[in-house]
Amino acid sequence: MDINAIRSEYPILSQEVYGRPLIYLDNAATTQLPLPVWRAMERYYTQTHSNVHRGAHLLSETATAQLEEARQTAACFLGAEDSREILFTSGATEGLNLLARSLEHLILPGDHILVTVLEHHSNFLPWQELCARTGAQLHIVPITGSGELDREQLRRLLTLPQVRLAAVTAVSNVLGVCNPIREIAGEVHGAGAWLVVDGAQGLRHGRLDMITLDCDAFAFSAHKMMGPTGTGVLYVKASLLDQLRPCVFGGGMVDQAEELRSAYAPPPAGLEAGTPNIAGIIGLRAAMDYLTRLGLEEIARREAALLSRAEAGLRAMPGIQVYGAPSHRAGALSFNLTGVHPFDAAALLDRLGIALRSGHHCAQPLMRRLGVTGTLRVSPAFYNTEDEVDAFLAGVQKVLDVTEVYHG
Ligand code: ALA
Repeated sequence: MDINAIRSEYPILSQEVYGRPLIYLDNAATTQLPLPVWRAMERYYTQTHSNVHRGAHLLSETATAQLEEARQTAACFLGAEDSREILFTSGATEGLNLLARSLEHLILPGDHILVTVLEHHSNFLPWQELCARTGAQLHIVPITGSGELDREQLRRLLTLPQVRLAAVTAVSNVLGVCNPIREIAGEVHGAGAWLVVDGAQGLRHGRLDMITLDCDAFAFSAHKMMGPTGTGVLYVKASLLDQLRPCVFGGGMVDQAEELRSAYAPPPAGLEAGTPNIAGIIGLRAAMDYLTRLGLEEIARREAALLSRAEAGLRAMPGIQVYGAPSHRAGALSFNLTGVHPFDAAALLDRLGIALRSGHHCAQPLMRRLGVTGTLRVSPAFYNTEDEVDAFLAGVQKVLDVTEVYHG
């Protein structure tokens, strides 16, 4: 990878903050957009902007064609069998909520739903709420001491009668733990349940293939893969897709609207009411093309090397607690400085130009399991440099030094 050429496509990365070069290491929250993604959206807004699936004029037909091409691109990117399995959403959160609502009629009182303690709230709360509405019972699969999913406990819970669904993250947004989705899919399907995967953090860690992973649903957001905010995809395998019922009603999803009862279009249209974020979807398509051009395996290798460098440096520093020691970590790493609140440490690092996320990371059950109220999280992307990781480590050391002085 020619890192200088790559960085030249991200003008935001070459700015200074507080008179220092910006070191952006909060990519698990949101990644930056390269110029090809901007330009695709700019082209759409300056040449094609119009509504989709509605007009009989050239602009509308062009916008519709571009949106449907984006659906094809997403199907290829995910290795889906059929592009109708791709639903456009505003992001992973909406996708997972939409799924929980759309399959509610399939869940009965006394059914069991499994989530894991690693989940972001967006793959936890929709299932908790679904259980409250239907009388199903929610179970939380624990983790082991190293932060990995406790597979024995998962297998034990899967022996419960009427387990309908397991919701599992591909990669933990806090610990970076990678779950073996394919193996888990085999076990979940063996119990006659569906596997729903939160893929938000799982996009830049190698090529995805839904047929091989064999999950029943997979949700992600464009803004964690060099695309814009407000756009995402919910993939649903055809066998589950055909059982879903619309849960958002309005324009573009109707077959026949009658006074007393209406018939809805089959998916994807039936599950995509209202005008979509067309520019965002076009940006998402450009981001998928961009990542594919760079090479997903190459991206994964580079990000893994940067994360290992950060982890090795942190582990070598007295006064640092690193959370989890999974056999396969990707994307993000959580840590704390002994005796320093993560918000204070993040504020001090910010003044050094270093952007990290701090807090509970929308994963409060996991924070309780770790026995903390929050952590600092470093999450490099392929456009970060080794020098930036070293500057981050030097910054952490500086914060340790000054807070030690401060604490006396
Ligand atoms: N889900 C994003 C994160 O983990 C916002 O930071």
